Amino acid sequence: MKFLGIGSALPKKVVSNDDLAQVMDTSDEWIRSRTGIGTRHIAVEETTTSMSVEAAGKALKDAGVSAEELDLIIAATVSPDYIFPTLACEVQSALGAVNATAFDLGAGCSGFLFALATADAYLRTGRFKKALVIGAETLSKMVDWEDRSTCVLFGDGAGAAVISAEGNGLLSMVQGSDGAGGMALSCKNRPVNNIYHKLGPQQYSFTQMNGREVYKFAVQTVPKAVSEALEKAQVPIEEVKYFLLHQANIRIIESVAKRLHQPMEKFPTNLEKCGNVSAASVPILLDDVLKQGLLQKGDKVVLAGFGAGLTWGSCVIEWQA
Ligand code: COA
Repeated sequence: MKFLGIGSALPKKVVSNDDLAQVMDTSDEWIRSRTGIGTRHIAVEETTTSMSVEAAGKALKDAGVSAEELDLIIAATVSPDYIFPTLACEVQSALGAVNATAFDLGAGCSGFLFALATADAYLRTGRFKKALVIGAETLSKMVDWEDRSTCVLFGDGAGAAVISAEGNGLLSMVQGSDGAGGMALSCKNRPVNNIYHKLGPQQYSFTQMNGREVYKFAVQTVPKAVSEALEKAQVPIEEVKYFLLHQANIRIIESVAKRLHQPMEKFPTNLEKCGNVSAASVPILLDDVLKQGLLQKGDKVVLAGFGAGLTWGSCVIEWQA
């Protein structure tokens, strides 16, 4: 496969660490020094669907592909607007992508990598030719705004890629899961509440995180996954132009860079302005890097995602667009 076009969308409202410090017991110093986050975009009028449609529209335009040409849409999200219909079907409807098969996939912050791997596998069957892969989240509705240890970390946004079956742009793909560690980062769905099992007053559940466990998991797993992807692709690490990692925490990215013996200059980031946008972070970062004109044909790039599940994914791409 190869990438034909990329797009992204962020909510209009920007919330700084100082803004948060006015409404909860936190500070710019605490957030910045522990995470590298300075601001995040928070959905007010936007929805997961509206941001996905905007990002997808830009990706289609960038690709020069019409919505009718798409035969596959996969949306990675843990925060869709509806449990059903799926986000992918909502996007299909809004775009008029009438010839596409559309479905969602949930793999937490690894979502975009998992969706890309799934789309690639579908394209390889020959049944599909052009796919739209989306990572989109409105995490601001999934966090408890009274829990300062989680709500300051996340932001909202969407990223999308149009990919084609023609091309050899994906050199390797590595994925993994560790369900046994899953409760380190969790958010419950609705509780059972029916005429036979009454729970009493319904309560929403919000994101729960053991930050230290997740940190340990990330710094141990991501360098291994990246090394494995490079080995599979037979690409020496020195040939990699950029490592585009899921944007969870600058200290995780620095630790991965150190463990891989690579300079931080090869690790572009946008978490200072976006925070952790879960499944949307990798495609938004890819879009940022492209907009800055940092990628040329033939460049080798590593993408890596990690997060809830626990899950991880990493791939090596050769830029062909
Ligand atoms: N502002 C101010 N203080 C805060 C705070 C905030 N927003 N959030 C937590 N604190 C406090 C804690 O209550 C604790 O206080 P205490 O010592 O009085 O109990 C103190 O800060 C230290 O918390 P600690 O958990 O030791 O901080 P840390 O150095 O481990 O950093 C994280 C916390 C969340 C930044 C860090 O664990 C992390 O980045 N983990 C990975 C999380 C992640 O990336 N998740 C998503 C993966 S997809």
